Formats: sequence, C-alpha cells, structure tokens
Amino acid sequence: MTEPHLVPPADADSVAALAARGLRYALVDTSDAVAFAHWLGADERGFHAPAPTPERTESARERVGYRRTTGVYDGAAAEPESPVATTSSWVAQLTVPGGRTMDAWAVSSVTVAPTHRRRGIARALLEGELRTAVAAGVPAAILTASEATIYGRFGFAPAAPATTVSVARRRVGWAGPPPAGTVHFRSPAALRDEVEEIAGRALLRTPGEVDRWPGFWDRMLGLTDPTSERSRGIRAARYDDADGHPRGFVAYSVQRTEPDHGTVVVDQLLAETDEAYRALWRFVLEHDFVDEVRATLRSVDEPLRWMVSDPRAITTSEYGDHLWLRILDAAAVLEARTYSAPSRLVLRIDDPLGYASGTVVLETDAAGRAFVHESDEPAGIRLGIEELGAIALGATRPSVLAAAGRLAGDAHAIRTADRVFAADRMPHLGFWF
Ligand SMILES: CC(C)(COP(=O)(O)OP(=O)(O)OC[C@H]1O[C@@H](n2cnc3c(N)ncnc32)[C@H](O)[C@@H]1OP(=O)(O)O)[C@@H](O)C(=O)NCCC(=O)NCCS
Repeated sequence: MTEPHLVPPADADSVAALAARGLRYALVDTSDAVAFAHWLGADERGFHAPAPTPERTESARERVGYRRTTGVYDGAAAEPESPVATTSSWVAQLTVPGGRTMDAWAVSSVTVAPTHRRRGIARALLEGELRTAVAAGVPAAILTASEATIYGRFGFAPAAPATTVSVARRRVGWAGPPPAGTVHFRSPAALRDEVEEIAGRALLRTPGEVDRWPGFWDRMLGLTDPTSERSRGIRAARYDDADGHPRGFVAYSVQRTEPDHGTVVVDQLLAETDEAYRALWRFVLEHDFVDEVRATLRSVDEPLRWMVSDPRAITTSEYGDHLWLRILDAAAVLEARTYSAPSRLVLRIDDPLGYASGTVVLETDAAGRAFVHESDEPAGIRLGIEELGAIALGATRPSVLAAAGRLAGDAHAIRTADRVFAADRMPHLGFWF
C-alpha cells in the first residue's frame, strides 16, 4: 500500500461538484479490506465481470492496492457503503520515441453505476483526475478505453493503436532466417523472477508502451491462483541470445478443441531485439495440433507477415485505438521524445480545458533533441489538444489530420511535421489497464 500521506487527496472542485448533488467523493483506504471489497465489487460490476470472490478480492488488493483509489458514495442508496462510481490512478512510465520514458498519470477503473449514469459523475471524476495530475506535476494522462466515444471530450486522443493477429498455422512455413540463440521453456514461477528485467528493456523499444506493475506479472503468469484451470494452462518460454543473455519471453496457453485441433493464445510476447522477436514467433508457430495462433493487442506494423511462407495466412482485426493520451503540459511532452529531423515548427495549441493552450516553438536538432519555448509569433500549424495527443508519439501523421480537417496550417509546415514527428517504430501498447 502507498503511504497515505503521499497520496493526493480527492480533487476539491470535484468534491464540491458532487457534494452539490448529494454525493461524497473520497479516497478509498485500500488497507481497509472491507472498504476495498466494496470498491472492487462496484468496479467489477461496472465492467460486467462476475462478483469477486474473497480470494480474488484479497489478491486484487495486494496487486493494485498501491493505487490512488477513489469512490463516489450516495448516502441515500440502499447500500451506502458500496460506491456508485470508481476510479484509480497512479504515475506510470510511458515510452516515447527515442527509447526514453516520461511520467504519465494512468487512469483506470472508471465506472459509474447504471443507477447514477448521465448526471455528470464521470465528468467530475475525469476532470478531477486531470487537475490532480497537473497539481502533481505530471505532464500527461493516459488510459485505455472501453468505448471510443467517451474520452475525446476531456482532451484524450488515440496515440498508439493495437490489433488482433490471427495466423492460420497449418498454412505457414517459416520464411525468416534461422534465429541464433535458443528458446527455453520456463515454469511460470521461474519466469516471474526474470520477467521484470527482460520486459523493462523490451518496453523501451516501443513508443506507447507502459510499464507493468509487479502484480500484473503475477496474474499473467497465473501465480495469484496457481491451482485454477486458467493458471495451470499457462506456458512460458524465454529466448536467450547466442551469448546466453535473456532477450525476450512469451506467455501463452493452448486451447484444445479436439485431440489434434486447437488454438495457441499468446498473452504477452515481448522482445528486446529483432532476433528475439523472430525466435519467439517461430517457437509459437511450431506448435503441432494447432490450427490457429492468436495474439491480441499486437502492433499494427508487425514484422511477422514477412517471416512466413504465406502472408495471407495472417489476418488482423480492424485497426484499433488503444492507448489514449491527454497532454497537460505541451512543452514537457514535446521535449520528452526525440525527433526524426532538424526543424523549427510553430504550433498553436487550443485546449478547451486550458492546460496546454498557447503557441510554442518546437526546435529539433540533428541529434533529434527538442527545445520548446513559448512564443507569440504566427503559427505554422494550428491544432487542438486531441490532435496534439494523436501525433505526439508518431502514430498518426499531421497531414492525415489536416486531410480530415482537424489540423490547419501551411503545407510546408505540415509536410515538415510529418517528417519530424515520425517515430522509428510504430507506437503500440500491448495490454489493458
Ligand atoms: C462511461 C461511464 C463511466 C460514463 O459515466 P456517466 O457518469 O454516465 O458520464 P457523465 O454523465 O459524466 O457524462 C459525461 C459526458 O460523457 C458522455 N458519455 C457518457 N458515457 C458515454 C458513453 N458510453 N458513450 C458516449 N458518451 C458518453 C455524456 O453524454 C456526457 O457528455 P457531455 O458532458 O459532453 O454532454 C459509464 O457509463 C460507465 O460506467 N460505463 C461502463 C464502464 C465503462 O465503460 N467505463 C469506461 C472505462 S474506459
């Protein structure tokens, strides 16, 4: 649990706004098992999940109890101890182009009970989270969204997409180079000792990735309920390079439908090097008695289709928004990443909530470093806070937003911005939070 004095209190404006509607908005003391159980029950109900068992509640409290956890309570409800709305937040590390990370205010567990919807509770919670992030000096907020229609109004934009990849395994032969190094099966418990270090390096490769918390790995590897059917089905393998250094891993399960039919479901496949990526995919594709290999939340730019004999054996679901980014301090976010070319761009940013409004000059040098300062000179590009979030990591080109009528400017500046904002790797986020 986080020390209570380190946790910012519930935002005063939102407390007042909700109090005016007869509701109490407060932090949840996650060291109080009963209060947390009520909060988790409301959170899971909000996402239509089964009511948590006592064991699952205790395991969740251990895994996510460190977060700043809030609830909205209605004293007039039949069960006033059960919140009618929930959120949780923490400071995560978001990978930006250039292999660095920046602090980002991660928001999760946004639910409002069906008994209390459409009366501004989510707005009070979200705006409260943004004010709290700003007060804490965190330059951006991030989330993953159940629906794409909710968060734009608060200035969030899709910043790193993801897709589901399905491989008709029996149709594909390996067409990539034979990988050097070796893949080893690891028991989930053994991989748990290694996974944070391997993943820590692998996540720095891809803009849009976000660090996982320790309990994420415990759950992914089935260690929170090791005797359950799901946990016993989890397989794990590690890739070591030719020098014996661990460079990646895969966690997966096999769903068998008949003795010689089934699906490999890849949960996480993280690779620090291209070679690790190739070796782990080859390992996964070499499972016999399997018709399909399915992996969710993969990059929309997977090299996989160039490594198999029949690229049409690979299908991807629609391009999906996945990581949503809300920039709060434009200069800090723009300076956090590196850029692809030297340039000087003047951006006028319009932020309806006021946090990032203004005109800034973005100067980038040949090494990709950025220097940002405020200015009152005429802007080459005019864009809203959502559009800035959409281009910030390089997932969407400014010219695409210009074509959509969502960003304006002179053609030369937009062409320059396309080149400058391009990232070495397609931004991508590989999990839900
Ligand atoms: C989404 C949810 C949190 C909204 O809560 P709410 O308290 O009813 O929302 P509010 O009354 O504060 O509405 C705020 C704004 O969002 C809009 N909105 C709310 N839910 C929406 C939805 N599902 N789709 C589109 N717009 C939505 C409202 O119309 C309102 O717009 P406006 O202020 O511009 O007029 C709630 O419906 C919910 O808990 N859904 C199930 C869980 C979920 O999907 N959570 C999101 C997790 S990422």
